[in-house]
Amino acid sequence: MSSNPSYGDKDYWDKRYEIASNSNNQIYDWYKDYESGLKDYINHRVSKSDNILVIGCGNSLLSEEMYLDGYSNITSIDYSRNAINIMSSRAYSRGYDLKYLEMDARNLNFKDESIDVVLDKGTIDALMCGDDSSENCDQLAREAYRVLKPGGTMICISYGIPSSRIEVFDKPYFNWKIYKDRIEQHYVYRVIKN
Ligand SMILES: C[S@@+](CC[C@H](N)C(=O)[O-])C[C@H]1O[C@@H](n2cnc3c(N)ncnc32)[C@H](O)[C@@H]1O
Repeated sequence: MSSNPSYGDKDYWDKRYEIASNSNNQIYDWYKDYESGLKDYINHRVSKSDNILVIGCGNSLLSEEMYLDGYSNITSIDYSRNAINIMSSRAYSRGYDLKYLEMDARNLNFKDESIDVVLDKGTIDALMCGDDSSENCDQLAREAYRVLKPGGTMICISYGIPSSRIEVFDKPYFNWKIYKDRIEQHYVYRVIKN
C-alpha cells in the first residue's frame, strides 16, 4: 500500500467494492492470504473456539479460510456496505456460519470485554493514509481495547514500520503487552490486554 491518501477515504472503498461486486473478480486479499503465509502464525496464537472479530474485512478471504480451518466464531466488519454485501452473499450461498456486519471500527457495536481476538490486516494502514490519521487510529485502538477481554489479543498485520505503528498502542490509557513479529516482509503487531 502506498501513501495514496484515498485509502483513508470511505468513498474510495465504496467505489472499489462496487466495481468488484459487478466483476468476475470479487475477492482480493491485501498483503498475504491465510493459506499462503498467515495460517501457521494464527494457529499458534488463536484458539479455534475464540470469539474473533475481523475489523475492515473488505473482500478478503481471511474469515472464510479461517472458518474452513475450524475457527467457529468469527464476526467480520467493514464500514463499506458494498464489501459486506459481497462477503455475506458468498457466505450465505456456501452455507458458511460467518457474520458480516456493516460497522465502523472506530465505533464498535459490541459489549465491553466480549471478544478474545481482534484481527486487523491493512485497516490501521488504510486509516494512516487519511486525514486525522492519529485520531482515527486512536479511536480504533480504544474500541479494540474496550471490546477485548482481559488477556485478549489484537493482531495487526501491517506494512508500517514499528516507529509509525507502535505509537498507536503505546498510550498511557492502555495496559497492553506489545510484541513485534514479522511474517516475511510484513510487520505484525500483537498486543495483549493485561
Ligand atoms: C487495505 S483494505 C484491507 C482489507 C482486508 N482486511 C484484507 O486484508 O484484504 C482496508 C479495509 O479497511 C476498511 N476500513 C477502513 N476504515 C475503516 C473503518 N473505520 N471501519 C471499518 N472498516 C474500515 C476498508 O473499507 C477496507 O475494506
